[in-house]
Amino acid sequence: MKTLAVISRKGGAGKTTLSVNLAITAHLAGLRTMLADIDPQRSASDSLRARTGDGPVLAEINAGKLFSTQVQAQHGNYDALVIDTPAAPEADGLQAINSADLCILVCRPTFLDIASVVRSAEAVRRLGKKGLIVLSQAPSRRNGFEPPAVLKAAEALRFTGMPLAPIGLRARSAFQQSVAHGRSVCEWEPGSAAAEEISRLWDLIAPMLLTVDRGHSAQAV
Ligand SMILES: Nc1ncnc2c1ncn2[C@@H]1O[C@H](COP(=O)(O)OP(=O)(O)OP(=O)(O)O)[C@@H](O)[C@H]1O
Ligand SMILES: [Mg+2]
Repeated sequence: MKTLAVISRKGGAGKTTLSVNLAITAHLAGLRTMLADIDPQRSASDSLRARTGDGPVLAEINAGKLFSTQVQAQHGNYDALVIDTPAAPEADGLQAINSADLCILVCRPTFLDIASVVRSAEAVRRLGKKGLIVLSQAPSRRNGFEPPAVLKAAEALRFTGMPLAPIGLRARSAFQQSVAHGRSVCEWEPGSAAAEEISRLWDLIAPMLLTVDRGHSAQAV
């Protein structure tokens, strides 16, 4: 089983939106998937409870239960565990990073989000984990040109030394609407630009998860 932690110490960056979309996408790809919601805000739980039909199994837990939940999921023959994390406290985020095979660092293209991701990237590196930065809520291209905020963010994020996914999520209403119904954007608006972003991101993440080596095992936090 592989564990994916979706992290950002900035509130509202898009962690829950991405966690729900990735967990559903993994489920639809045929992986036995659990979504662990360790945020007391319970946004991912609210979203998945609105879902009808089959989907990822929800674990509403606190960060302290992460390890035992992971063990249970392993024994239950799950293929993927997606962790939706809170912006704070920091200890919970560290626990999630420590449990993960791959950490997705969610970042809006703003100065404060980038400053926060720099610190998260340090924590991911310190714990010897693999990380990938994903831009979220980015403004759309205008006349085929990338908005300056996105270009500047990409430039600044190079200094984290962590890879930036070539596919980010733009600010799109489909992400807001679909999460309210416990659906991924691929189910909500198949063929849409939002669906394309999630599909391409999953195509990037899935092989990264599968190629995690044993050097990325959990360490004391
Ligand atoms: N790509 C997107 N396009 C448009 N709106 C988005 C996108 N991603 C997230 N949002 C919206 O931004 C808000 C915050 O998103 P979300 O709850 O996923 O962030 P979060 O990082 O989980 O927040 P928190 O730190 O409070 O847990 C929500 O209203 C959500 O619908
Ligand atoms: Mg959230």
